[in-house]
Amino acid sequence: MPNDLRKESLTPDRKRDAEAIRILRANDWGNYTLPSRRLYPYQWNWDSMFVALGFSEIDLDRGWTEVESLFEGQWSNGMAAHIVFRRDQPGYFPGPGIWQSGHQPPTSGLSQPPVAATVVRALYERDPVLGRDHVRKLFPKLMRWHRWFHTKRVMSGGAAIAVTHPWESGRDNSPDWDASMQAVDPSGIQPYQRCDLGHVDSAMRPTMADYDRYMKLVEYGRSTGWDHAHITREGPFSVADPGITFILLRADRDLKALARYMGYRDSLFEIERWLRSAQRAADYLWCPHQGAYVARDLRTGRHAKGISSVSFLSFYAGIANSRRDERLLAHYHRIMDQVEWGMPSFDPQDERFEPRRYWRGPTWAIINYLIARGFSQAGYYEESERLRLTTRKLILESGFYEYFDPVDGTGAGGPEFTWTAAIWLAWASPQVESKSRLPFPDSH
Ligand code: GLC
Repeated sequence: MPNDLRKESLTPDRKRDAEAIRILRANDWGNYTLPSRRLYPYQWNWDSMFVALGFSEIDLDRGWTEVESLFEGQWSNGMAAHIVFRRDQPGYFPGPGIWQSGHQPPTSGLSQPPVAATVVRALYERDPVLGRDHVRKLFPKLMRWHRWFHTKRVMSGGAAIAVTHPWESGRDNSPDWDASMQAVDPSGIQPYQRCDLGHVDSAMRPTMADYDRYMKLVEYGRSTGWDHAHITREGPFSVADPGITFILLRADRDLKALARYMGYRDSLFEIERWLRSAQRAADYLWCPHQGAYVARDLRTGRHAKGISSVSFLSFYAGIANSRRDERLLAHYHRIMDQVEWGMPSFDPQDERFEPRRYWRGPTWAIINYLIARGFSQAGYYEESERLRLTTRKLILESGFYEYFDPVDGTGAGGPEFTWTAAIWLAWASPQVESKSRLPFPDSH
């Protein structure tokens, strides 16, 4: 711990700095970090990447280790799995025996939002001399993972990236999936016992009806031997997700920057081909009726109803369109003005909004960070800063919760949550102010 954090009379934000470091260290399991001791006792994909960003503020080497250990869960087809199971934890469901991935170490059968390339770029730019060897090892793995998304998670001719299970989106019970999940018939699933309800209030977690369908989709995937292209094309649930699509496009741009730094000319060509489909992906997700980018069911072609926080990640993806952006910004201000502690994960004016139920309303620090980065890159500094100050205040007042009630700011879900601590260190703490005010150099 840096010396100045040991001093007695710390200001509240310096206290939070010290606590955030303590949380990262306490949840550090050697070469990977748990999202939360009791609730999530394994390595989760995007959690780990935010953690790497947090570590990069205090121990850059440890940040690199976090990224490298995640790729131990990369399959031979390129997918970096959403959970890597190490050290058996019988208290977690669904564990490795349910997924039957056939991979060593065992993993789940899905992926998660690919923030890794963006994080690898950030770590590299902190210290290019130290970073070179790491990038040399990681770059081919990132390429294979991005290629997996661009080939196995699109419908032929399409460009927007689909999720085949709500868990793959990282936004488990978002209303974005409601209509498509209704169409999943949960009958015939094996009996099972959830574990999450023993740790957190059930009013904050997905419902049993949701959970039966989650299990149905796991059983379906497993029955195909995890044939990912087949699951996308034929499976019971295949929905183009603005979250994953925009995060991947952003990560493609960062991968391109890495290819340039390293002189990997052959890969540039392939990445540029992916990026040429960016506009087509965005067009597919744009709903003129709602004036926003929203999830769209690949089977029916129907857009989901309602605006969720990932709609605003088009800026982060580097997608600019003045007419659409104007409508998005109007939604942004309307939604932020509805609640004191935004950005709510779902529109508070929609009747399905629930301020404490997971992805149906609560504010998440990681999403605020991604949206804010996009805003500042696009030149919307005020919008970006509003998100940072709100996140800072939330953590100062409520602590490092998994997520927060956007109406009254109460912390909810798991306490001492790793990614909230990591985002504090990397972005929300006043200590990083001067650094992140600089617009991030881009490679559009
Ligand atoms: C939940 C979240 C997901 C996260 C995981 C671990 O499943 O929805 O985004 O990665 O918890 O924190």
